[in-house]
Amino acid sequence: MNKNQLLSEPFLQLPTETSIQVVWFTEFFGTCHQVRYGEKLEKIVPARTSKLTRVREDAQSRTLEAYQSVTDREIWRHQAEITDLNPGEKIPYQVTSFQENTAIRSNIYTLTPRPKKGTNLKILLTSDHQLMPMTAANLQKVSETIGQVDAVFLAGDLVNIPDRASEWFDDSRGGAFFPCLQGRANYPLTKNGIQTIYKGGEIIQNAPLFPAIGNHEVMGRFSTSIDLNEQFKDAIPEFIAKKLAEDIAAINENWLKNHAFNTETYEEIFSLPQNKYYSLTFGDIYLVVLYITNIWRNPNLEPNARGRYYEKQRDLDRPERWGYGQHIFEPIAQGSPQYQWLEKELNSREFQEAKYKVVMFHHPPHTLGGNIVPPYTDPVQTIERDATGKVTSVRYDYPQENDYIIRDLIPLLESAKVNLVFYGHSHLWNRFLSRKGMNFLESSNVGNSYGAYLGDKKRPVPLDRNYAAIGNPNGLEAIIPNIAPLVDWVNQPLPYIASNDVTVFSILDTEKGTVSSYRFDTRYPDSEVIKFDEFDFFSIGEV
Ligand SMILES: [Fe+2]
Repeated sequence: MNKNQLLSEPFLQLPTETSIQVVWFTEFFGTCHQVRYGEKLEKIVPARTSKLTRVREDAQSRTLEAYQSVTDREIWRHQAEITDLNPGEKIPYQVTSFQENTAIRSNIYTLTPRPKKGTNLKILLTSDHQLMPMTAANLQKVSETIGQVDAVFLAGDLVNIPDRASEWFDDSRGGAFFPCLQGRANYPLTKNGIQTIYKGGEIIQNAPLFPAIGNHEVMGRFSTSIDLNEQFKDAIPEFIAKKLAEDIAAINENWLKNHAFNTETYEEIFSLPQNKYYSLTFGDIYLVVLYITNIWRNPNLEPNARGRYYEKQRDLDRPERWGYGQHIFEPIAQGSPQYQWLEKELNSREFQEAKYKVVMFHHPPHTLGGNIVPPYTDPVQTIERDATGKVTSVRYDYPQENDYIIRDLIPLLESAKVNLVFYGHSHLWNRFLSRKGMNFLESSNVGNSYGAYLGDKKRPVPLDRNYAAIGNPNGLEAIIPNIAPLVDWVNQPLPYIASNDVTVFSILDTEKGTVSSYRFDTRYPDSEVIKFDEFDFFSIGEV
């Protein structure tokens, strides 16, 4: 524990036209946590302090202090509301926490309330950071190339294990979540025998962050002894948790968080307009953020995998150990509470009058990446038994016609004339355009890639089912970048970037009405960042 410094620099949340929240973390309870702001830092606002309730470390944590087993970590969160602001004005601020009469201060940054309509904005579109090798380099190049952005839209998968504190704050490899987005990373990346230290970008101290929930924001069943990676994977559907419950009287919302899955740490760290899905106006943008993600299960068909298609052979007689396939955390099917909420949002005057209509969520509707298979739907379980009643196989099917994103969500977004659907999850860059002119962008080749599936590179799918081994199963063709695409070995332009050497970021520019994507080749640390694609928000489809 370090008592002489803040655990994070401050970051900005929840701007309104006259206010904004400043948030930071310490490893001490302390006193007099406050924000000073104004031209001479002459105004003071005290912060409210709370303690994170679930953050822990374990033997897999990469921390300076080694942990033998699952251990609680004491971390306090401070939040101050700055209220008397005017749109457009940028005001210096600094946070201070006192520890035993010693003032511990952050650097001085700039805050500004929510921009008015007509303000020219540059927004960073990013996702899937997860402490991956190129993340710090990526965010450093954002700062160096664009300067200060006005907001960050992050389509999920911020860290790997949400309850592991060090992944957010101080992973000893130097690339934790906050350091990368605050210019305080210290991440050595070695390419061709040359090491470069990347610092990330000083981004979220000066611009609000709007995240979506990815599968890596969801923690599974709670335990004080099982290691955190296992707890992360140990999420089960709520209806199964209820079935497995020993004491039915104990079942309530809190019980379900511990016995099915939860996003508690994510919700404790961020201050969002509503919790799990939300919407907001930001300048000329109306942003809708949805909670669309399912658990990732192993595509392996081996009998020893708790997979997406089969349960592990050894556990067939122990349903409490099953994974229940790639179950969905929050329904988005037509008629679900989230779908109904979305319908209302899309019917609101504020949405309909917005110049740029953007919808962000984690799971891809269109991609060449691996995670689009199997379809996004509730797993259909088939249990086979022998003559004695003993379970001999448990398998899961995902009927293509019940893909909730394609069947229910996309038609709704298209009829509402959404301009851009932004998502992540497969760790590559590719984009699509629907016939009605709705743009789809996955810009998740940030820290690493899990590849694109075209040509000879096939997704691992069971041979007896019709899941797409290559291409985008949902119909649209990936668009070849229109400025400077990468090329294959016979010099043909590629409709994607899926690379562990080349990192990509995208910028939404409300002045030009464009989304531009940039690439940086980490093998050549002195090379230029290259703008390789740019599309218009008001792309015209075929109809
Ligand atoms: Fe993901």
